[in-house]
Amino acid sequence: MRTILALETSCDESAVAVLAENESELKVLASEISSQVDEHARWGGVVPEIASRRHLEVLPHLVEECLVKSGLKVCDFDAVAATVTPGLSGALMVGSVTGRTLAALNAVPFLGIHHLEGHLASVSLGESSPEPPYLVLLVSGGHTELIRVESPYKFERLGRSHDDAAGEAFDKVARLLGLSYPGGPAIEKVAENGSPNRFKFPKGRVSRPEGGFYPYDFSFSGLKTAVLRQVETLLSLKDVLPIADIAASFEQVVADVLIDRSIRCAIDHGLKELVMVGGVAANKRLRALMKKKASLESIEVYFAPKAFCTDNAAMVGAAALNRLKYGNISSSLELGVSPRWPLEKADLLYEQEPPF
Ligand code: KG4
Ligand code: ZN
Repeated sequence: MRTILALETSCDESAVAVLAENESELKVLASEISSQVDEHARWGGVVPEIASRRHLEVLPHLVEECLVKSGLKVCDFDAVAATVTPGLSGALMVGSVTGRTLAALNAVPFLGIHHLEGHLASVSLGESSPEPPYLVLLVSGGHTELIRVESPYKFERLGRSHDDAAGEAFDKVARLLGLSYPGGPAIEKVAENGSPNRFKFPKGRVSRPEGGFYPYDFSFSGLKTAVLRQVETLLSLKDVLPIADIAASFEQVVADVLIDRSIRCAIDHGLKELVMVGGVAANKRLRALMKKKASLESIEVYFAPKAFCTDNAAMVGAAALNRLKYGNISSSLELGVSPRWPLEKADLLYEQEPPF
């Protein structure tokens, strides 16, 4: 049996988890998340300085709780893992330094994990997950990407957003509707009572220089502006703002765009399995519609469990266990953090000479 202590501090959730894996079974023995959203809410977004400080304050307590719950000591683990990229540098540094210190003091290996690889691994925390090759729609606050997973560590990005990520669009539209941060859950809640067909918002497309459109790419900044214009028009007419209808219409168009382009991409690449992960993948309307439309094309859809869609450390542990399984025994203790790093180059995090 392999066991991992995993840390996640790339943005505004401090998280620690303990995972165990034997031949056939992956188990989360403990998973603690301390969200800072309330503190960032009044600023309408994440304040990096506040994020780093809060991580520093709560992380030792979360580690302690996970050790008590799992009944393990740090020296018992096969490795200590921490997210090292991408994210807010100061925030990443807290998890990385904590992880490297625990690993060094207890003479266990350290594994630096790419945050997106963590999101991709989150599907394996559910009841069933596919074998490669398959297509992943990764939709979070920082990323909207279509990724072909060819083998456990061969990733190819087939589509991406050219401006805002889908989660960012939820956050910005929520803000202009006067809803709370993070916007996704707030919009989902009010949209339940709204009509998704009342407003027709644009399905942003990205033009190719040579003409036509990129078929699997996204653009959400125009959508946000269209919602803003609609709100301004309604307010100028002194109407009561139909927040539920706006939220539902917005949620619907985001779901339509994500689903249509994902399914198109899967069909064009001959992939029969589609995985959806990341914070926005928790969205009920998106999950239900994706399942429905994909089944019409005989595409099987797998979701990360809702609890592991938004940032958590169990997904980081799942990615670390995969790395161990495929021979990436450790990262250098000299490995630092980086605000950006391509997923396709995640292998370099296990080189003796670290890339950052
Ligand atoms: O994966 P995540 O926790 O962090 C990043 O790595 O970015 O994603 C956070 C994003 C936020 O933008 C939030 O508004 C969005 O996911 N989100 C949702 C829902 N829950 C979280 N968006 C739509 N519907 C939801 N239920
Ligand atoms: Zn994330």
